[in-house]
Amino acid sequence: MYFAFATSDAMRHLDDELPRFVAAANDRGHRADICVWDDPAIDWNSYDSVVVRSCWDYTGRREEFVAWARSIPSLHNPADVIAWNTDKVYLREFAKSGTPVIDTYWDVQRDDDIGEHSEWVCKPSISAGSRDTARWSSREEVYAHSAALVAAGRTSMVQPYVQSVDTDGETAMIFLGGEFSHAIRKSQLLHKGEGADVDRNGRETITPRAPTAAQHEVAAESLAVVSRILSLNEPLLYARVDLVTASDGSPLVIELELTEPSLFLAHSEDSAGILIRALDS
Ligand SMILES: Nc1ncnc2c1ncn2[C@@H]1O[C@H](COP(=O)(O)OP(=O)(O)OP(=O)(O)O)[C@@H](O)[C@H]1O
Ligand SMILES: [Mg+2]
Repeated sequence: MYFAFATSDAMRHLDDELPRFVAAANDRGHRADICVWDDPAIDWNSYDSVVVRSCWDYTGRREEFVAWARSIPSLHNPADVIAWNTDKVYLREFAKSGTPVIDTYWDVQRDDDIGEHSEWVCKPSISAGSRDTARWSSREEVYAHSAALVAAGRTSMVQPYVQSVDTDGETAMIFLGGEFSHAIRKSQLLHKGEGADVDRNGRETITPRAPTAAQHEVAAESLAVVSRILSLNEPLLYARVDLVTASDGSPLVIELELTEPSLFLAHSEDSAGILIRALDS
């Protein structure tokens, strides 16, 4: 078979997983190319499957990216998943399923209710790499940040800052071909008082993590809900469920990474091979 792994011109240097996928494909006797998603010279029809990877520059031009996804004959994950998952407004629909999600206030304007908390996070609904995201301890700063996002035509999200992230980090649970593969702990990313205009690439520390039974349950339930909402008839090629821990110790979904997640392949034996086997079987 012939596979393409899609990346972006600006960010491919940040993706050290691409060569692992190509090597795993070659090991199984397949041809594989690394392709820039918006390169007009590429004939996408020549590939049996196109796998979305580090297309991380789509956030400023999401519509173009979704249109590209819809134009690809055999895309993983499918274009409907990408259209749904590239804007965190999906969390509104997802939360209605009853799966625990961090409380979110949308498009907050001055003096709107944002709950009684010591700190908040304000972020745009379309983002990656925590761009334009900040942690604030005063309501005034939350209102100003949210108003600036809304004034720029973006959807703003305000959430309580989940304090356990400072000590316990975030848990990313990786599924390949519908099966749980491995999990990692991502250290805290947002520093107090630093504001939103920060490049946080490479800041986090990643270590292996064995998820709890409760985390397994919420992650599996999350994927079942996605499958129901999007009427999927086969498992997603890849999925990452990112969880944090509420003050009562229970897991909360922070986001579902179904578009272009880092899969932390280095933290699991042969996970690139598992993905290739899910593609060619
Ligand atoms: N409510 C919150 N409480 C604590 N930390 C948060 C919260 N929201 C976001 N963060 C921190 O900010 C980071 C980025 O937020 P989030 O994952 O929602 O956005 P993103 O831009 O899609 O980022 P990334 O691509 O890095 O995952 C998280 O990994 C976490 O460290
Ligand atoms: Mg995240």
